[in-house]
Amino acid sequence: MNKNRIDLRSDTVTLPPQEMRDAMSKAELGDDVYGEDPTVNLLQERCAQLTGKDAALFVPTGTMGNLSSVLSHCQRGDEVILGSRSHIAIWEQGGASAFGGVSLRTIANEADGTLPLEQISLCINDDNVHRTTTKLIALENTYNGQPLTPAYMRMVKEIALQNGLAVHLDGARLFNASRALLASIDEFTAHVDSVQFCFSKGLSAPAGSIICGNHEFIAKARRIRKALGGGMRQAGVLAAACIWALDNMVERLDIDHALAMQLAQGLSEIEGIRVAPAKHRTNMVFFESDRADLSVQELARRLRDIGVLVAVEGQLGIRAVTHFGLTTEDIEEVVLRVEQLMGVPASL
Ligand SMILES: Cc1ncc(COP(=O)(O)O)c(C=O)c1O
Repeated sequence: MNKNRIDLRSDTVTLPPQEMRDAMSKAELGDDVYGEDPTVNLLQERCAQLTGKDAALFVPTGTMGNLSSVLSHCQRGDEVILGSRSHIAIWEQGGASAFGGVSLRTIANEADGTLPLEQISLCINDDNVHRTTTKLIALENTYNGQPLTPAYMRMVKEIALQNGLAVHLDGARLFNASRALLASIDEFTAHVDSVQFCFSKGLSAPAGSIICGNHEFIAKARRIRKALGGGMRQAGVLAAACIWALDNMVERLDIDHALAMQLAQGLSEIEGIRVAPAKHRTNMVFFESDRADLSVQELARRLRDIGVLVAVEGQLGIRAVTHFGLTTEDIEEVVLRVEQLMGVPASL
């Protein structure tokens, strides 16, 4: 990593390690739209097994994975219940509504990412000519770095079952949740009908996500993926990176989590900086300044000027994400730079 610029905007900024690139260059390939790419097929089989589902489908991005999933579960006029600050609700251009005519019924996320169970029940429409048809509940794990427990997900699934609904999981960073809570992937996915997770976040692949579910769901999602322009040909080049990531990048997420802990600790000792508490820390730290002259935007701008890149996340303040390629020295350097910045009045 360039020592002058420390990039904490996201875990998507990682570059694939050389061994991953080697695996990509050696991948056995075929045309995946014909279902003939052996590397894609292997990745799909492995992910279906990992999540305990019948089948899986490789997609280029998490956004397409979520969209294909919602459109497979729902028809025009159906409704999905989801968090008001979830990625599907606010960071995917409302694709489910725009492309599928599916309405989004949002519930305010608790700080830990959960949706209050009684709120979920209240939002399920009865069979009434005035109302949309509720079809799906969508959860996100991790939610802004907070892992949802399998026990919570089981309770959501119970509500869904009682009401004939499906549950989809946006598990873009599900491996982070799995490492943080010491729970296997299928302990989470046992409580959902479909899941999408990303290889291009903490796992450092250049692209690629997967969706998993039963045979009928995956068959529908395959058609929708094609309609959305996501049918790729020799996609095994990318799938090889994802397989390599599954084998080599999952356990090392613990390092990212330890770096986030180090960052949170270091920042919290700086006068004028307030770090948001987290019950379980994965790879994200949210913080802001309590100085009236230093808004979140101003703090982010001044951090950029001293070579620390961060994201601004609405009411949550500044988001710093740890990832592959960062070291403890980088985090020490970030803390040092923030300390120096906070010692200088904002007007200078
Ligand atoms: C929680 C969550 N879901 C979905 C996505 C979408 O993934 P992609 O950028 O691959 O479309 C992201 C991207 O950051 C995300 O954070």
